[in-house]
Amino acid sequence: MKPMKKDENYILPDHAAERRRSRNAAETAFFEMGEQNRMAGLHKKYYIRTYGCQANVRDGETMAGMLEMMGFEKTEDMQEADVLLFNTCAVRQAAEERVLGEIGSLKPMILAHPEKIIGLCGCMAQEETIVRRVLQKYPQVKLIFGTHNIHRLPDLLSQVMHTGNRMVEVLSEEGKIVENLPAKRTQQYKAFVNIMYGCNKFCTYCIVPYTRGKERSRTRQDILREIRDLQENGCREAVLLGQNVNAYGKDLNETDGFTALLRDCARTGIDRIRFYTSHPRDYSSATIDVMREYPNIMPSLHLPVQSGSDAILKRMNRGYTAESYMRLYDEMKEKIPGITFTTDLIVGFPDESDEDFEDTLKLVDYCRFDLAYSFIYSPREGTPAASMPDSIPMEVKKERLQILNSRLAQYANENNQRFKGQVLEVLCEGSSKKNDDVYSGYSRENKLVNFRADRNPEGELVNVEITDIHSFSLDGKAL
Ligand code: SAH
Ligand code: SF4
Ligand code: F3S
Repeated sequence: MKPMKKDENYILPDHAAERRRSRNAAETAFFEMGEQNRMAGLHKKYYIRTYGCQANVRDGETMAGMLEMMGFEKTEDMQEADVLLFNTCAVRQAAEERVLGEIGSLKPMILAHPEKIIGLCGCMAQEETIVRRVLQKYPQVKLIFGTHNIHRLPDLLSQVMHTGNRMVEVLSEEGKIVENLPAKRTQQYKAFVNIMYGCNKFCTYCIVPYTRGKERSRTRQDILREIRDLQENGCREAVLLGQNVNAYGKDLNETDGFTALLRDCARTGIDRIRFYTSHPRDYSSATIDVMREYPNIMPSLHLPVQSGSDAILKRMNRGYTAESYMRLYDEMKEKIPGITFTTDLIVGFPDESDEDFEDTLKLVDYCRFDLAYSFIYSPREGTPAASMPDSIPMEVKKERLQILNSRLAQYANENNQRFKGQVLEVLCEGSSKKNDDVYSGYSRENKLVNFRADRNPEGELVNVEITDIHSFSLDGKAL
């Protein structure tokens, strides 16, 4: 792996290099913890703050696993931590500013305790401008590494600990898929399983293909082995992860590899399977058929649409029309009775007209989503959309978001009405965030259910009778 730019001994990110895609399939390498790192964290504590999507959550679990192998102990208290890692997201500017604000506010703590180490990792670390800004303005950040080399954390951190020098190693080419990494999972009963890394779609607004590199699929054996291991350790739900899971296997020269993988995952017999995120362009009817065939593939789908306007979809480079999205939606609803549907929407894409926005509302009226994540477009440096002309004032964008959100909340509530009085199967994740006497979990349809029970049924599949409905959750009692 060649460093793209040399600046002292730093290996810095480079957007031009991140944009390139080689044709070679990724090789697999195996992680081993160096003997010299095994005791480095004894009697020390680590703190990890993760932002962004499930890919980052899963990476955070790997980092925690490696730190614990080094002897570190986890803490939730920043003041108490010897090592603080910020595992960041670059998808919108607001999230980035929050992280920089947070790191900035730690300056007094570092002045008082210069031996503490702050690290920046995740997607922001893959951005040229961010890294330069951090190097210049945030001397308290001693370690920066990117998304392609999280397995280097033990070595890089040990070096900072031993030398006191700043270490910066951000690769702009993705390199090998690393297996055999340890993980400290956030949950015992529900686990994220990476099936592929990266994204080749290059939607014009999106930074992810730059921060996560090209699409690389893990081998089917490695994925299935992970699911079987999880199952043996009591896990009941595997959540398959990729930026665009329907493209699984393309780089391994498989045709419709995702359908085959999904079938094999279902055949492991694990209680529940979900997957994130799907892309409408690569979705095959065969995948829908497998979802229908296996009852352990959950009847809920997150299928980001982004916009209901064909002109905007085209400028976003999404590769489908509103009409083709709605046909896919129809096929799912017809073949999988009771399937719930969620999506992502962007308002205020450059020069989005009133008519374009109306088209988005029309699509929302047609699909009546169970839940949707809606965002105001945020320009990302280096992406094509960031240099598109935009004459729409921010006030108009905010107003559109409000209109959209109230429409979405209305459908979320209406959709939930049908569950009143029904019995749903819920995988109990423990007591609810708000109340210790109330338990919570997700139903097969991915509805958040808060319920009362005589005893703690954590980790069990519980039948819950639904008594009350809210827009974004259901209440009930265990039978
Ligand atoms: N791989 C997934 C999700 C990527 S990011 C997918 O393709 O759907 C999650 C969501 O963030 C996207 O679906 C999109 O709605 C939103 N998003 C991405 N880039 C954005 C930007 N520049 N401004 C606003 N929202 C953005
Ligand atoms: Fe971003 Fe598009 Fe890739 Fe999703 S499919 S990660 S929105 S480029
Ligand atoms: Fe954010 Fe990176 Fe995920 S930009 S959404 S954390 S892939």
